Amino acid sequence: MSIQNDPNQVLIFDTTLRDGEQCPGASMGLQEKLQVAQALARLKVDIIEAGFPIASPGDFEAVEAIASSIQGPRIAGLARCVERDIEHAGRAVAPAGDRGRIHVFLATSAIHREFKLKKAKEEIIRAAVAGVLQAKEFVDDVQFSPEDASRTELPFLAEVCEAVIDAGATTVNIPDTVGYAVPEEFGACIRYLKEHVANIDKAVIHVHCHNDLGLAVANSLEALRYGARGVECTLNGIGERAGNCSLEEIVMALRTRKDAYPGLFTNIEAKEITRSSRLVSQLTGLHVQRNKAIVGANAFAHESGIHQDGMLKERSTYEIMNPEDVGLVTGTELVLGKHSGRHAFKEHMGNLGFPLDGEALQQAYEAFIALADKKKHVYDDDLVAIMQSTYNESGGAFVLKYLHVSTGNQTVPTATVRLEKEGEIYEDAACGDGPVDAALKTIERITGVHGVVEDFTLQSITTGKDAMGEVTVAARFNEGKLVTGKASSTDIVEAGARAYLNCINRHLAG
Ligand code: KIV
Ligand code: ZN
Repeated sequence: MSIQNDPNQVLIFDTTLRDGEQCPGASMGLQEKLQVAQALARLKVDIIEAGFPIASPGDFEAVEAIASSIQGPRIAGLARCVERDIEHAGRAVAPAGDRGRIHVFLATSAIHREFKLKKAKEEIIRAAVAGVLQAKEFVDDVQFSPEDASRTELPFLAEVCEAVIDAGATTVNIPDTVGYAVPEEFGACIRYLKEHVANIDKAVIHVHCHNDLGLAVANSLEALRYGARGVECTLNGIGERAGNCSLEEIVMALRTRKDAYPGLFTNIEAKEITRSSRLVSQLTGLHVQRNKAIVGANAFAHESGIHQDGMLKERSTYEIMNPEDVGLVTGTELVLGKHSGRHAFKEHMGNLGFPLDGEALQQAYEAFIALADKKKHVYDDDLVAIMQSTYNESGGAFVLKYLHVSTGNQTVPTATVRLEKEGEIYEDAACGDGPVDAALKTIERITGVHGVVEDFTLQSITTGKDAMGEVTVAARFNEGKLVTGKASSTDIVEAGARAYLNCINRHLAG
């Protein structure tokens, strides 16, 4: 029943689509989630946690769609130990057949028992066991998580684990829900469970660490020393608050420091890491900081003369991993020009992780030709960016057709905007405090949607004066959820206008 082929295999349970998506502003639509799930399958993660089916009809639909279409990994749906939750999760993962998993959770720490659940220890055990038994009616593969495990009394934690394994849980996942643990203590917790849970050999121990103290990867690695064999993680480390253990960091730590973790390995296709990371950043609108380990823009950049000199003499003086190992091909200038055909473009985009056909191919190709007309060099990063802009717009209700802004240091910035929606054309003009403000105000006048822009970030994607500028906007509408939109253009006002329009389209799409 276990999916571990070898006792030293570390299972990678990816929760980008569940815990990652809980990150403010990170929410994704169905098509976006399917794209991420495809990337996770290419990465060869062992389990995809596709969502929390009871949370909303959209979540249910996404888990069901992923369970129906993604081949390879197991597909998990999250549920509280509540009948309706488990029933929803069971139905949502059903299309995955025997690759379906239900992940039930219930808090066990004293603080959660007393203040959140108002339940005694015995009641917690009863509810946990009942949850696992009910989940077993839908699938064989049931995972149980004692939420806030790292702040739970160890003897009680062991008691809960033993009871749920007896009830049929095949994985027990030990979460450091609030990112409070430190490595020595977290490792000791796993050792304690190995020594005190009589039936622990009937289940795989996973760990699920949050990064509030920046220790999620360190805690996960320490847990592996004491017998955990599954790590729950997300691409780019996105997730609640400070995020989750980052997939790329744990995978590359195990690969690079085989000496420190003898024998342990994952089945991850590391060459897929860079493009998967980019895809998640594009689709969620969450930037990857430049100095982020493994996938940040500076992760393999060497600035100081001493380092560069050392690198030229012997790469390993300053580089512990090859960028190629994580699929980073540096200095890649697209060999296609504006006269290149659709076929070569399609193939290149496929290699970048964007398999395109039909209308989507046509739109992306037109955007590429338009860019190649404006820009001397088109880089892969430019293509990833235009791909995202095209994708956002094709899924949205309003499309930017025309933008004219007059601005200067002696004039009142004024924008004229033309939008199209379902074949209808709308046009208006407005003034603002700057060209971006004028463009955004005009978009609001046309759409009738007014938001509060909480963040507006501009960064250049490639180098040179003609570099594409990528704008990420985070906006809130009617005091609701934070919505992010991203767009790129060689014109940064246009990129800002498109990014804000993406936010509005996402907001209108619900
Ligand atoms: O952080 C946490 O405890 C969780 C559980 C649902 C596993 O995300
Ligand atoms: Zn979590």
